[in-house]
Amino acid sequence: MAYNLLKGKRGIIFGALNDKSIAWKVAEQAHEEGAIFTLTNTPIAIRYGETDELAKKTGSIVIPADATSIADLENLIDETQKILGGKIDFILHSIGMSLNVRKGLPYDKVNYDYFQKTLDISALSFHKLLQVCRTKDAINEWGSVVALSYVAAQRSLYRYNDMADAKAMLESIARSFGYIYGRDKKVRINTISQSPTMTTAGSGVKGIDGLMDFTERMSPLGNATALECADYCVTLFSDLTKKVTMQNLFHDGGFSSMGMSYKAMDQYNKGLDAELGDDE
Ligand SMILES: NC(=O)c1ccc[n+]([C@@H]2O[C@H](COP(=O)([O-])OP(=O)(O)OC[C@H]3O[C@@H](n4cnc5c(N)ncnc54)[C@H](O)[C@@H]3O)[C@@H](O)[C@H]2O)c1
Repeated sequence: MAYNLLKGKRGIIFGALNDKSIAWKVAEQAHEEGAIFTLTNTPIAIRYGETDELAKKTGSIVIPADATSIADLENLIDETQKILGGKIDFILHSIGMSLNVRKGLPYDKVNYDYFQKTLDISALSFHKLLQVCRTKDAINEWGSVVALSYVAAQRSLYRYNDMADAKAMLESIARSFGYIYGRDKKVRINTISQSPTMTTAGSGVKGIDGLMDFTERMSPLGNATALECADYCVTLFSDLTKKVTMQNLFHDGGFSSMGMSYKAMDQYNKGLDAELGDDE
């Protein structure tokens, strides 16, 4: 159901690779709510992904940008303002990638070049984006910027690897930049800490099926889906949440506040005798 919550708002949505992507659902929901926006991703993701299909569906233009490149970000911000005809009201940063995770290198044997790439792509890109926007004064007062995070920023979750450090940095950037941008321009900056979700990035984490089953059993409301995450993003882009900033907002069915649930205990008791591998 649409409420016109984003009527008249202009935005940028990063990270819609295919229809499983959280950003894809955000674009669909933002479109439903009356927003206009550009879509962006790396040139290679645009070539091999399905972003063009989403652009058609939502009447958007796709502007390629590697989020680690200042030049690309500057071009993206300039072009978006030209295409949409004014300053920006909302931005979704939905970007994450770790070569250490992809190549199965454990946290105590990471490749440091990969580690730096993880931080650059998954966290520093958020700072770069905000700095480019701030320098160009590209975001309207009461604009809203949201990045997607994960509870591994606060808790150790096996196999999440260097992405945990990237998410901790991402959430810290939201607070540090949120102060400056809020003080000077009334721009809101938040992160949403989303449940594990079966997307391309999500399925890169080995054992995500088991993790999703565990979090489903541990969360009183169950795992949050990508579509539900999109709805939450829409509220944060809307004028209904004008005083929410510098927060990491858990969108996880209650998982982050749980210790042990009845369902998880039940499953644990059944599985106690299961053989564990050497690295568990
Ligand atoms: N899937 C989950 O379980 C889960 C849970 C919590 C948070 N998140 C976060 O949600 C966000 C979106 O991930 P998703 O699950 O929708 O997966 P996804 O694979 O669909 O999206 C990740 C996107 O990042 C883009 N990307 C990678 N490198 C980039 C770069 N250099 N410049 C610009 N874009 C780049 C990819 O092309 C892709 O579109 C990520 O920040 C992820 O960490 C995901």
